[in-house]
Amino acid sequence: MKPPFDLETTDRLLTTTRAVRRRLDMRRPVSRELILDCIAIAQQAPTGSNSQSWRWVVVSHPSTRSEIASIYARGRDAVEALRAETTGQTRRVYDSAAWLVDHLAEAPIFVIPCVVGRPPSEFSAVLHGTCYGSILPAVWSFQLALRARGLGSVLTTMHLIWEREVADLLGIPDDVLQVGLLPVAYTVGDDFKPAKRPPAASITHLDRWNDESPT
Ligand SMILES: Cc1cc2nc3c(=O)[nH]c(=O)nc-3n(C[C@H](O)[C@H](O)[C@H](O)COP(=O)(O)O)c2cc1C
Repeated sequence: MKPPFDLETTDRLLTTTRAVRRRLDMRRPVSRELILDCIAIAQQAPTGSNSQSWRWVVVSHPSTRSEIASIYARGRDAVEALRAETTGQTRRVYDSAAWLVDHLAEAPIFVIPCVVGRPPSEFSAVLHGTCYGSILPAVWSFQLALRARGLGSVLTTMHLIWEREVADLLGIPDDVLQVGLLPVAYTVGDDFKPAKRPPAASITHLDRWNDESPT
């Protein structure tokens, strides 16, 4: 039976939506309408109890982006330290992450996904899981929608160390939890490739957790 979607295109979208940093085209403007279109697609993502308690803060003003980027750059030493102790694929990721620290402000749009209702720290894992699980699928849908339109992004979380300062800068209320920051821009070219990953069977336990299942 014919699948309901064109699998070649669908699978290419799902396997080539990468964390884009150096290939963000910092000079090309991005319209707010396009961002809203992608947020509208992201709103179709699942949420616990159908809460739909997401909010999206879209920042385009250059001076605000610079202020946020200078807060983000406080993490430079931590990124450098991690970079120094890694090799291979992960080393390349940290090379790219270190580059972003110095260039974040140049991205034409920042998108900060948030959830209304910050879970108190004493809440159980299920409530924390439900909270993050009610926004991160939407974030990924947002990134896929961007990629389908020739734009790229990378989910970053480093600024959350100083979440309160960014909240004050943007007027985000205390009970609203930021979950990340995505610099968004058109990409330079669109020939992204699937990343190298181990075979699915090697990370999958069949029927029950045991050492024999993964191959
Ligand atoms: C929860 C999460 C937090 C991340 N935080 C950062 C970050 O603070 N800075 C950054 O440059 N990239 C960050 N990334 C991007 C990852 O480095 C990237 O997704 C990973 O290296 C794999 O690259 P790929 O998405 O192209 O496969 C984060 C990704 C996730 C899922």
